[in-house]
Amino acid sequence: MKRHFLLSALLLLSTAILAVSAQNARKHELPKLPYALGALAPKMSQETLEYHYGKHYKAYIDNLNTLIQDTPYAGMSLEEIVVKAPNGPIFNNAGQSLNHQLFFLGMSPAPQSQPSGALAEAINKEFGSFDRFKAQFARAAAGIFGSGWAWLATDKAGNLRITTEANAGNPLRYGLIPLMGLDVWEHSYYIDYRNRRAEYITNYWDLVDWKVVGQRYDRR
Ligand SMILES: [Fe+2]
Repeated sequence: MKRHFLLSALLLLSTAILAVSAQNARKHELPKLPYALGALAPKMSQETLEYHYGKHYKAYIDNLNTLIQDTPYAGMSLEEIVVKAPNGPIFNNAGQSLNHQLFFLGMSPAPQSQPSGALAEAINKEFGSFDRFKAQFARAAAGIFGSGWAWLATDKAGNLRITTEANAGNPLRYGLIPLMGLDVWEHSYYIDYRNRRAEYITNYWDLVDWKVVGQRYDRR
């Protein structure tokens, strides 16, 4: 009877250990794109996607999975890590994983070309018009010194803000919700545009899917 109890206890313990390690082994994965790698050409070429999505973005996710092993971050979502991790390699790779997810999944070869619904109203209220928003955002993105991101972000109440971030920065870090992020690291445009960042920014407007951005705004 005593032996039976011991065996049952051991079985329970090993099940619990397996459950915990399964949670810790949760892997972040490169999301599948809802379009083919060549579908954004010529504004963004297949070669750029092969490097930017297939190598740079994938490397951030692979690095993150390695770095978080056996740390308190192992079971967390990207968003949680971005909010909680101190500056350093874990934050950098989680930030870039989240940033690229928002960037790549926010584009489409056949996008909704203008905001609609509540987001359109908020843009008009904050910036005067969609065109004025685009001009202000483009200036912000062009003015980032070195590698970074330009963001359209919102607070919980729906007030919009354009922010700029160096390196892996994301407005989630200080309590805003990121809606649309433009990558201005050279790896995002150098194959197609060389040093012409302004031209890359101009062409980005033809790829942003305002349906996706609007859904993010509605879910805030
Ligand atoms: Fe990038």
